[in-house]
Amino acid sequence: MNRPSQEGARLNVPAHVKHARLIAWVAEVAALTEAADVVWCDGSEAEYKRLCDQLVAAGTLMKLNPELRPNSYLARSDAGDVARVEDRTYICSAKKEDAGPTNNWMAPAEMRQLLQTSDKALFKGAMKGRTMYVVPFSMGPLGSHIAHIGVELTDSAYVAVSMRTMTRMGRGALDVLGENGDFVPCVHTVGAPLAAGAKDVAWPCNATKYIVHYPETREIWSYGSGYGGNALLGKKCFALRIASTMGRDQGWLAEHMLILGVTNPQGKKYHVAAAFPSACGKTNFSMLVPPEGYTGWKVTTIGDDIAWIKPNADGRLCAINPEAGYFGVAPGTNYHTNPNCMDSVKRDAIFTNVALTDDGDVWWEGMTDTPPAHLIDWQGRDWTPAIAKETGAKAAHPNSRFTVAATNNPVLDPEWDNPAGVAIDAFIFGGRRSTTVPLVTEARNWAEGVYMAATMGSETTAAAAGQQGVVRRDPFAMLPFMGYNMADYFQHWLNVGERLAASGGRQPRIYCVNWFRKGADGKFVWPGYGENMRALEWMLGRIEGSAGGAENVFGTSPRYEDLRWDGLAFTREQFATVIGIDKAAWQQELGLHAELFKQLEYHLPAALPDTRARIEKSLAAA
Ligand code: GTP
Ligand code: SPV
Ligand code: MN
Repeated sequence: MNRPSQEGARLNVPAHVKHARLIAWVAEVAALTEAADVVWCDGSEAEYKRLCDQLVAAGTLMKLNPELRPNSYLARSDAGDVARVEDRTYICSAKKEDAGPTNNWMAPAEMRQLLQTSDKALFKGAMKGRTMYVVPFSMGPLGSHIAHIGVELTDSAYVAVSMRTMTRMGRGALDVLGENGDFVPCVHTVGAPLAAGAKDVAWPCNATKYIVHYPETREIWSYGSGYGGNALLGKKCFALRIASTMGRDQGWLAEHMLILGVTNPQGKKYHVAAAFPSACGKTNFSMLVPPEGYTGWKVTTIGDDIAWIKPNADGRLCAINPEAGYFGVAPGTNYHTNPNCMDSVKRDAIFTNVALTDDGDVWWEGMTDTPPAHLIDWQGRDWTPAIAKETGAKAAHPNSRFTVAATNNPVLDPEWDNPAGVAIDAFIFGGRRSTTVPLVTEARNWAEGVYMAATMGSETTAAAAGQQGVVRRDPFAMLPFMGYNMADYFQHWLNVGERLAASGGRQPRIYCVNWFRKGADGKFVWPGYGENMRALEWMLGRIEGSAGGAENVFGTSPRYEDLRWDGLAFTREQFATVIGIDKAAWQQELGLHAELFKQLEYHLPAALPDTRARIEKSLAAA
């Protein structure tokens, strides 16, 4: 292409980049943000090392003891930048109704003024004194027909190195783009311009935050945060919010789902995709270790957070994991509950906001029964069990996380990188509910499954800023991640199922689970983790027609004798506590479903209130 050599030099465009639109956009954003320098990332290991060294020198990363945690780092964020900010997240569609009542909305022109065009636009000069990294990435296996390319421009080297772990980042993605390929433009700044000569802080960010999506033009603009889903824009912003709108338009699904393979002792393999809200067990379920008594069973991970699912020519729904790494919750992870996860983070990991041990390793609540006698907590302060007892201070932030490549996972599924994806046999939806919702229930048909998913409630967690432990409706575990009107999304799910049926294809079975019911003592009754295999085996048995169950008001659940109990002492009474349907609690629950439907009245598919009415009637008769 024809470009002035001077501009080319300032933009540092590598010779192999021939994409005129990409170069023009990089030039535009560099000019807007007044970035001091532009670096194009190639995704190489040498580049990763160089950026990590630079981050260590800047104080953003600390190298952990290489003998205890080889090739690993600790980052401590700003105390005000620790989780996704849902109240600062916007879907700026042309029409407000297209964002729907569950999203924050602003008219695109108004938002652009605020961010890009007015005199005081936030992105104007936002990268002063900083390097802008050009981060090309593929969501999904390079060249897969299900995959898509994005390019993130960011002034955070921490984001650049994290994107290398979390996506297929660098030269390969640029090659797929070629001279004219489509990409989703993602602009990210921490919103902390550096004056000439000023000293930087370890974790630059801004108290003002905007996480903005323009679904029509498929753009992402993120301001003010360096943390997780706010800043690693391939993840929630692209792979869920923007991709959900692409899926609506093109007939596929972008879901907040893990994908696992499960092989039985006869060697038959199934693939399951499961949607649980943030910090409700996806990573753990995707790496499940079958318990004692399950000889010959194996669970393998395809993905731990996001699934892109498309119907194939054989009438099956095929799923890929668009990511290449895990940004997983640290607290609660240990060798007893999730040995595969512990092994995944033994090396090559970046930990953010966990505690530091005196010998240069990491620790978090729940890693060991007895905490070390002394730690440096996630804010860099001294921490001892005595201090914790007195002040309640956590050593690790509850939303502290590890970033690690999928290839570190000892049970990574051999198909995880297959561009064609894997054919899904079952969908599971599950919230965190201390009461009301049974351990496992099978929907009797697709519409009933869509109802279960649409009305799912869950107690809020530390993955998002705000109050924790309050039950809210989280349809399909997608409440914070929907790129368009939630009611239209319900219709889209109904349509996908109908199209499968009409074309003679196979609809996956749909299940609803709850690992989190608590007893009178406030403790979880169900042992969870590996023991969830018992519910999973039942689901597969239902698909095969071999597992029994009893119908209840909203589906079919196992009786005590329908589950396998080898190796676990779990009484009929305990089982009753986790499977029971309490009439009064369900009357109240149905009231909450009605509230949701009222909120989502615009475009709500009639099948949902119809299903609700049917459940209400059978509950009244029960
Ligand atoms: P995001 O990455 O935020 O989307 O979270 P996630 O859905 O992958 O959740 P994850 O597997 O990281 O689990 C979150 C927390 O729930 C951790 O503290 C786990 O230890 C805990 N957890 C996971 N599975 C179970 C379970 O079966 N039972 C119980 N009681 N806790 C669980
Ligand atoms: C979630 O909150 O669901 C996450 C973490 O997976 S984040 O990437 O920050 O969104
Ligand atoms: Mn998630």
